[in-house]
Amino acid sequence: MLRISVLVSGNGSNLQAVLDAIDEGAVAETRVVQVISSNPEAYALERARRHGIPGRVIRLPDYENRETFGGALMQALKEKETDLVLLAGYMKILDREVIEAYKGRIINIHPSLIPKFCGKGFYGRKVHEAVILAGEKESGATVHLVDEGVDTGEILLQERIPVSEEDTPESLAGKVLEVEHRILPEAINMWKKKGEL
Ligand code: GRF
Repeated sequence: MLRISVLVSGNGSNLQAVLDAIDEGAVAETRVVQVISSNPEAYALERARRHGIPGRVIRLPDYENRETFGGALMQALKEKETDLVLLAGYMKILDREVIEAYKGRIINIHPSLIPKFCGKGFYGRKVHEAVILAGEKESGATVHLVDEGVDTGEILLQERIPVSEEDTPESLAGKVLEVEHRILPEAINMWKKKGEL
């Protein structure tokens, strides 16, 4: 049984896509063991609650410094015997201690075709705004392993969609989000297979 801890900050639609894929059997032998949010208001915590999954808030302002914050995150991941850390709409830079301890076992979803429109400052609506301003004919989403950089780890899966003349950042965000919800569960299956090779 693969045990996944999911880190969130907002709506949690990617978390929901993973929970639904597990329930439908599209992702086998896998369990989300906890949801950790950087934001106490995140609707993702409500999604966890509805699914009977432990949810908790771990955020830097509640700790005296980055070390104790990182320690709390590590403790939570270990407590649930986490095999895979999934960043699903997690809006914070992941603590270095976690990246080192879970190297090769942290997956992130980003709403663009990395290496385009990613890295510092490229998140949420800003990504789609930049894609449209640049006159891109296509966009999409990327699932990648997390390393010390921002959106720089090994790419596991990408899916492209056309950008139309009429697209706004909002309409593009909606189309890309559908891609994210499709490729995230698929990427978990790919990651599992890689581990079994
Ligand atoms: C998504 O666009 C995701 O790519 C980005 O955060 C957005 C919201 O995700 N990282 P969610 O609905 O909270 O899963």
